[in-house]
Amino acid sequence: MTALDELPTPALLIDRDRMEANLAAMSAAIAAAGVALRPHFKTSKCLAVARRQLAHGAIGFTCATPAEVELLQEAGVEDVLWAHQPVGPAKVAFAVQALGRGGLTIALDSVEVAEPLSRAAASAGVRVPFVLEVDTGLHRAGVDPDRAVATAAALIALPGLELRGVLTHEGHLAAHGSDRAGLEAAGDLAGRTLVQVAEALRADGHDCPLVSVGSTPGATSAPFAAGVTEARPGTYVYYDANQVGLGSARVEQCAQTVLARVTSTQRAGTAIIDAGIKAMSSDTLATAGILGIVCDASGTPLDGLEFKAGNEEHGYLTGPGTADLRVGDLLRIIPNHACGTTNMWSALFFVDGDRAVERHPIEARY
Ligand SMILES: Cc1ncc(COP(=O)(O)O)c(C=O)c1O
Repeated sequence: MTALDELPTPALLIDRDRMEANLAAMSAAIAAAGVALRPHFKTSKCLAVARRQLAHGAIGFTCATPAEVELLQEAGVEDVLWAHQPVGPAKVAFAVQALGRGGLTIALDSVEVAEPLSRAAASAGVRVPFVLEVDTGLHRAGVDPDRAVATAAALIALPGLELRGVLTHEGHLAAHGSDRAGLEAAGDLAGRTLVQVAEALRADGHDCPLVSVGSTPGATSAPFAAGVTEARPGTYVYYDANQVGLGSARVEQCAQTVLARVTSTQRAGTAIIDAGIKAMSSDTLATAGILGIVCDASGTPLDGLEFKAGNEEHGYLTGPGTADLRVGDLLRIIPNHACGTTNMWSALFFVDGDRAVERHPIEARY
């Protein structure tokens, strides 16, 4: 056990009680929707956190990168969904190897992506269970709903490919900002659209057991559409300033903070801290141009302090609250985006009150 005051700064902290409360609440909410919970591992990239999610009923995980898939498979997780298209020889070779271990499903959305994978898998003698990724509004990956049946038919015509269901990431809900009613309606529509695609595939003669939606803002709507079978929220494990901006969480639920110290107060109206852009995420999805919410050492937000700019290892706090800060003061910053912040760090501390109680590695980073 180490007092926060004795930790080197900056440091990445996870308030254990808040995280546990987030895990319990999401498990209960997803159970109330009657669907399975498959969290996205990108938020923590930490096996200690993943184990807590399994303890709270997660059936497996969603991943974005080969390193995440590998880490979980090596840790013995038996049900992994790789929700990113494996393009390029290195990713295809990795996919075949990971498929060979069993328990992996891959998201596909085009014949161009699937053909090299099918060829490599066939020559290695492995099957490719896949979900068809469907675009319900984000316009990132995924086929348009009206092209789903034709694309699924083209994909299953390739050697080794086995359709397991459909998937969407309703990331476009964030565009509704703080309009929670609009966001909920869009989440419901995304869920219903995906179910309609699953029904169209069934009408065309396919089994379609998996109907997978996934996001933290959408967790209160999309999984409740009748016919959805699983939800894949990721950010909920910690929440962040963006989720507060979207009305998906309260500040008091944010479990991830960056511990920093004031290093300079020489200019009136400005205080410098030892956490800059290499410690934070600059993803201002639903925040007004800030790098995070400034809190005191206990994690309570402070009035009159804004964190709007940073160099690599320096953060600039401005506002009237800087008059109360002294060199050496400890602060905690709630990042804009928990998942982006995680990727900056090699380790995190679980915190109980004002003490760091466990240190865990963050793996599978770039
Ligand atoms: C495919 C997929 N599923 C699930 C999620 C989890 O969404 P969130 O970060 O809102 O929890 C993401 C996030 O990027 C994603 O890309």
